[in-house]
Amino acid sequence: MYIDSHCHLNHPMNGEDVSPDQLITQAKEAGTVGLQTICCRMHQEYELLTGIAEAHDNVWCSVGTHPHDASVEAEKAYSVDDIVKLSQHPKVIGIGESGLDYYYDYADPQDQKKSFRKHIQACQETGLPLIVHARDADRDCMDIIHDEIKNSDKPLYGVLHCFSSGEAMAREALEIGFYISFSGMVTFKKMDWLRDIALQVPGDRVLIETDAPFLAPHPYRGKTNQPAYVEFVALELAKLHNLTREEMGHKTADNFFRLFLKAKDTWVQQK
Ligand code: NI
Repeated sequence: MYIDSHCHLNHPMNGEDVSPDQLITQAKEAGTVGLQTICCRMHQEYELLTGIAEAHDNVWCSVGTHPHDASVEAEKAYSVDDIVKLSQHPKVIGIGESGLDYYYDYADPQDQKKSFRKHIQACQETGLPLIVHARDADRDCMDIIHDEIKNSDKPLYGVLHCFSSGEAMAREALEIGFYISFSGMVTFKKMDWLRDIALQVPGDRVLIETDAPFLAPHPYRGKTNQPAYVEFVALELAKLHNLTREEMGHKTADNFFRLFLKAKDTWVQQK
């Protein structure tokens, strides 16, 4: 059994003729027993994603604003309370993906920072985990996280998704109890440095994801990714840790439910 902790079932890159329902069916046939489809723009996706999650067992979603969409969503002026309210839906299990991306120039860094802080505060308010996207912004990301932790007496849980940052960020995130999620990138030939980091992440803190439709793992590299392929991420991590792919699947599924605790409330055991 595998859980895809992060994918985008409604992304246009999946192709016009591929529906979220089809992707879910293919995933289940491939042993991906559960998945979380991630929100990037609350004002456009909330109804859609909660609808998909309601219609399928063991499909969950998040609420949040992707850093690329921070300026567009800023016009909607969501407050922390708004995010908290949206997160009350029984199948919303996490908040994000939020964070900072300085690699692309899609949103004003100030909008990204403001949005990121709101998401963190909503996590502290609800106890739901934060799903972090960081690209070329490791230092600012961790500084904001540390700052918000200092400003609150409530705990913060979270995961660095599609990890591709430096070792220092991994270490700092692990120190504050965060999880680290690896995508198909960890299967790419030239990614020895990323595999080195993956080896250092304790077994009880690692998650797997596809981030589909992006970053299809080997042997599907270059194709459109889908949650059915998450087992190849598990396989790569299993090799690193001398486990079987199934053992790695179970381990990362356990970790998923420890972090995304709310998913347990609606988990349906498959026969
Ligand atoms: Ni994503």
